[in-house]
Amino acid sequence: MANKCEFRELPDLSLARNRTQSFSFNYDGVTYPESLVRYLKGKTYFIHTYGCQANYRDEEVMAGMFENMGMKRASEVGLADVVVLNTCAVRENAEQKVFGMIGELKKYKITDNSRLFCVCGCMVQQEHIIKLITEKYRHIDLIFGTHNITKLPQMLDEVVRKRIRLVDVESAPKEIDENLPSKRLSSFKAFINISYGCDKFCTYCIVPYTRGKERSRLMKDILAEAQELKDLGYQEVTLLGQNVNAYGKDLKDGSTFAKLLEEVAKIGIPRVRFLTSHPWDFTQEIVDVIAKYDNIMKYIHLPVQSGSSEILRLMGRRYDAKKYLELVDMIRAKIPDVALSTDIIVGFPNETYEQFLETVELCKKVQYDSAFTFIYSPRNGTPAAKIKDNVSNKDKLLRFRELVKALEEIIIPKSNAMVGQTYKVLVEGTSEKNAEMLSGYTEKNKLVHFKGDKNLIGKIVNVKILESHTYSLIGELVNE
Ligand code: SAH
Ligand code: SF4
Ligand code: F3S
Repeated sequence: MANKCEFRELPDLSLARNRTQSFSFNYDGVTYPESLVRYLKGKTYFIHTYGCQANYRDEEVMAGMFENMGMKRASEVGLADVVVLNTCAVRENAEQKVFGMIGELKKYKITDNSRLFCVCGCMVQQEHIIKLITEKYRHIDLIFGTHNITKLPQMLDEVVRKRIRLVDVESAPKEIDENLPSKRLSSFKAFINISYGCDKFCTYCIVPYTRGKERSRLMKDILAEAQELKDLGYQEVTLLGQNVNAYGKDLKDGSTFAKLLEEVAKIGIPRVRFLTSHPWDFTQEIVDVIAKYDNIMKYIHLPVQSGSSEILRLMGRRYDAKKYLELVDMIRAKIPDVALSTDIIVGFPNETYEQFLETVELCKKVQYDSAFTFIYSPRNGTPAAKIKDNVSNKDKLLRFRELVKALEEIIIPKSNAMVGQTYKVLVEGTSEKNAEMLSGYTEKNKLVHFKGDKNLIGKIVNVKILESHTYSLIGELVNE
């Protein structure tokens, strides 16, 4: 029989919408109850992360906690004593994947009842999901949210000692936590959070509710983390925020993204990236800093979402197609060789075919180097989910396919033009499909496969491009 379930705090989307809460900086780090450390020592953990880079960074923090308690990572989910599913809520298919996995965990509980299963991340910031999991999936022991990760040891301790199931999901953030443990997923490229949350409230998006108010870390803390990574020999850092160019606005101490980016670049890590830029706060100053430093990659992810000004208005994106194109011109005037990528949502409620074609048109004008395309997915509690939609799923799918084809027609010739040229590639590992091949990314984020020795992993090498495929390139190592 499943253990009794205790509910500490439950998420509430209307509280999560509130932006008047204040929060403080907490430098206390994480503490570990002795009884839990004794219980977990020598056991194994497995964290399965879905969603965006913010979640991957959270995985590293949680892994740091487990390692500090004397645990080791299990090689697969079925072998782990503690499993954490770190979830995403951005689209319905993301949630379906998680439910598939939750279902699968049940069989491991039957064979070994001492295993601990936790679900955290954005999905459980929604009350209806909590209801579903606690009622239907009673083999889940602990559910916690995005705002109380640092209390994971205390929560797990309670679950173990009291033999209960526990739900503790705060609706809003109270703190920015510093001095967090961290077991990084890579020894040569790293994510650095510069801000948490999002205040943009695009009408289709759940993130402002699941991640809370936009709050920036102090510049000194970010720079200390970057310096530490540089000292450890990291080759690449990516500054992370849902909205990096709004960085510092909330601090009111003069910090801006342009200043932060410049200071990070000066530390001298070979590659500096940032993610994601909202077109709204993209200033000339930011563009100037990107242009000025060779180690800031000339690659900008600039989600447009739609090429129709009317749809953009309904999405609450705060720019129209003309403004977006002006921003692209402003960036290209200063950085002519910049690579641009984007996110696009197809089939927003009542999008007409003509409005969809405006998106295709905009893509042709911008000439993106890559693009992530999504079919609109209604998210419970967001304004767009209340709009009655007259576009059928079939039409959405047809538009989606048409857009992917149009984008390929833009992107493939650009990749073809790379053949014969030599590029700097940061080697990530062996290729997934062929262990004899190495894989890595160019400065402008193109995936390249080439033959080479494994000791090159983590290094930046020169690769001459020989062949171009739709989503990757084949090259050969060039000896300097
Ligand atoms: N903060 C970033 C990314 C947020 S989520 C930004 O604003 O660009 C990543 C992408 O998921 C978004 O850019 C958007 O294209 C897509 N997305 C968000 N909500 C969605 C929804 N309800 N349906 C389909 N795609 C969505
Ligand atoms: Fe979502 Fe918009 Fe915020 Fe991006 S900027 S996270 S799309 S609300
Ligand atoms: Fe998903 Fe949450 Fe990121 S909803 S995209 S994991 S911020």
